[in-house]
Amino acid sequence: MNYIDHLKWRYATKKFDARKKIAPDDLKKIKEAIQLSASSYGLQLYKVLIIENPLIREQLKTASWGQDQITDASHLIVFCNYTYVEDTHVDDFLHRTAITQNIEMNNLSDYGNFMKGKIKTMTALESFQWTVRQTYLALGNLLSACAELKIDSCPMEGFEADKYNAILGLTEKGLNAAVVATIGYRSHEDHTQHRPKVRKPLEELFKAV
Ligand SMILES: Cc1cc2nc3c(=O)[nH]c(=O)nc-3n(C[C@H](O)[C@H](O)[C@H](O)COP(=O)(O)O)c2cc1C
Repeated sequence: MNYIDHLKWRYATKKFDARKKIAPDDLKKIKEAIQLSASSYGLQLYKVLIIENPLIREQLKTASWGQDQITDASHLIVFCNYTYVEDTHVDDFLHRTAITQNIEMNNLSDYGNFMKGKIKTMTALESFQWTVRQTYLALGNLLSACAELKIDSCPMEGFEADKYNAILGLTEKGLNAAVVATIGYRSHEDHTQHRPKVRKPLEELFKAV
């Protein structure tokens, strides 16, 4: 199967088979796909929660419009953006770069100051929205990686972030639930899998300029 065939295979799964679990090796590949996601400046300003605990998921379901995927999928993935961007986030990145690429910290300080300066020009809301946006790139990679592994998934915005933040204790950690994905294996009873994809034709979606 080529990449396009994998994308045609995937669909936003409404009903998972609650008995089927993702194997650890496959979960590791999905984590690596998220890890390899591009991010602004490479800062990766988010944390990804992988939730299996059924009691927590039962609570989160009530904060997710009662959607069954939250409890029935093999794993629930919550992408959490950093609420505030701090200089230490940039410094951590510079340290990682210095070690990984064998560069003197001194040689990175101009770039670090540039990033910190740019980030300081943002309002609190702008930087919040900026970190939220990064999580969607990771979400996209998760969806594609799952498709290649023949693992079903559903991207989800149908949840109350405030309630997630309270249930998962995110606010005090400087985190916010930005977007969710449920991953696992489709139930044969999920009729959505048989529906043809609804997409704009290429001629409407694209414009040669
Ligand atoms: C950011 C985002 C949020 C979504 N939220 C939900 C959701 O809360 N519940 C759900 O069942 N589907 C959700 N979807 C799935 C979309 O409805 C679905 O991707 C779209 O209808 C296209 O169908 P397909 O993914 O099956 O091709 C979401 C999709 C995206 C990208």
